[in-house]
Amino acid sequence: MIDGIVDNMADDTDLVIFGASGDLSARKLFPALYHLDQAGLLPKTLRLRTLARRQPTTDTFLADLKQKIRPRIHDNLWSEAQWARFAQRFNHLRLDFSSEADYRSLSEALSKNRINIFYLATPPSLFAPICEHLGNSGCLEGSSRIVLEKPIGHDLKSCREVNDTVSRYFREQDIYRIDHYLGKETVQNLLVLRFANRFINTQWDQSCIDHVQITVAETVGIEGRWSYYDGVGQLRDMVQNHLMQLLCLVAMEPPNAMTAEAIRDEKVKILKALRTIDESNISEHVVRGQYRAGWYQGEPVPGYLEEENANPRSNTESFVAIKAFIDNWRWAGVPFYLRTGKRLAEKLTQVVICYKSLPHNIFSAGENIPNRLVIRLQPNEAIEMQMAAKLHSLKDKMSLVRENLSLDFFGTAGLDRIPDAYERLFLDVIGGDQSLFVGAEEVEESWRWCDSIIHAWRQQAVEVMPYHAGSWGPAKAGLLIEKDGRSWRE
Ligand code: BG6
Repeated sequence: MIDGIVDNMADDTDLVIFGASGDLSARKLFPALYHLDQAGLLPKTLRLRTLARRQPTTDTFLADLKQKIRPRIHDNLWSEAQWARFAQRFNHLRLDFSSEADYRSLSEALSKNRINIFYLATPPSLFAPICEHLGNSGCLEGSSRIVLEKPIGHDLKSCREVNDTVSRYFREQDIYRIDHYLGKETVQNLLVLRFANRFINTQWDQSCIDHVQITVAETVGIEGRWSYYDGVGQLRDMVQNHLMQLLCLVAMEPPNAMTAEAIRDEKVKILKALRTIDESNISEHVVRGQYRAGWYQGEPVPGYLEEENANPRSNTESFVAIKAFIDNWRWAGVPFYLRTGKRLAEKLTQVVICYKSLPHNIFSAGENIPNRLVIRLQPNEAIEMQMAAKLHSLKDKMSLVRENLSLDFFGTAGLDRIPDAYERLFLDVIGGDQSLFVGAEEVEESWRWCDSIIHAWRQQAVEVMPYHAGSWGPAKAGLLIEKDGRSWRE
């Protein structure tokens, strides 16, 4: 698959990175580009044009970058010779985001005969002004694409404003909205699992599936990101994008082809079919939590309100659990239980499809063991089908046990590392493939659904429920599912 994409890549591309000296660039973007280069997957003539206000020259930029990314590259994959080759792709320009003159210098530096990809690794408040400057300064005269990092706005209204401004300068087919979860290998494998396996596809609806669980649990707290995060909260930071995308991929109808347009159309239908959660039903459908001090790997860790720069009276949630319904033919009556939080017991991202029990159990010696399909994104990417099997024993004639049929991607592919999601996404932006990027309508529909929850919280002054760092969230998140006779799978 990768080979095909490399073949399709334009060999005359400039990747122009705004926010090149920021945190995301150092943690994700440049390590991903280094790895792609090291693996020989970048077009030979791809140039990296970095923009930042602080670093004056390419040399100073690279010296700083090398220090930042070296610890993020495995020793086996690092060599000074490879770094020197990678460094040759760079061309740095000092740019003040608000200076018209700086954009004119950028325009002069850009070749109009190459494809210019503008990557905005900046706060979203800069998306619209940057587009306007690019347009006014002549930077967009050649062929261009734009890449936007999440979040696109902080509610439906602001999201529309961003989409409207960006669309004045770029066509939708040239806008790449990143949700890095879509670049994760197992997320793509979910599509293959669903749409390349007949028996899975025919058992994928309310007649066979009892409920679905989506968990995105993190062990990290907010630490240095408090001032950003407190204005956002877990619903906007994780549910509006990553969890909604996972839900769409699980629930959507088969697209007629693996094109961006066909996939987006199906995702939008799911988002539109999500039952609204508002003041009338929020108390039974949503739990909001905030971590208190607790333990992580045997060490004490502070609570959300005690983190650096915290406002001790903050009511921002660091945990959300939701019981959602999709009101369409396929999913009528099937609850989708979603939960995500910071400072939870484990780093775990997984989707669990819980099948219904059989109508009648003929194996009287064993309990009824319903199937479960576990799609685990991290850690240990794998897909496991939990099956009922016979216990190997002469003593117990027909005792049933739960066994796993397992696809272990890490082990079977013989990989020494799982490529980061950004590696896939960079290849696709450069190759001009939008199928793993989010369309304008999808982001807007997702905001519409989340806004209604936020509005209800505000109207009812819903307080966050405390949970201990290192736990699985507030006790009420357990009750959300237990009162339906089910339980979370960890
Ligand atoms: C980001 C969120 O989008 O995803 C962060 O802003 C979160 O708060 C991160 O920590 C989680 O990503 P991953 O790939 O580590 O699950």
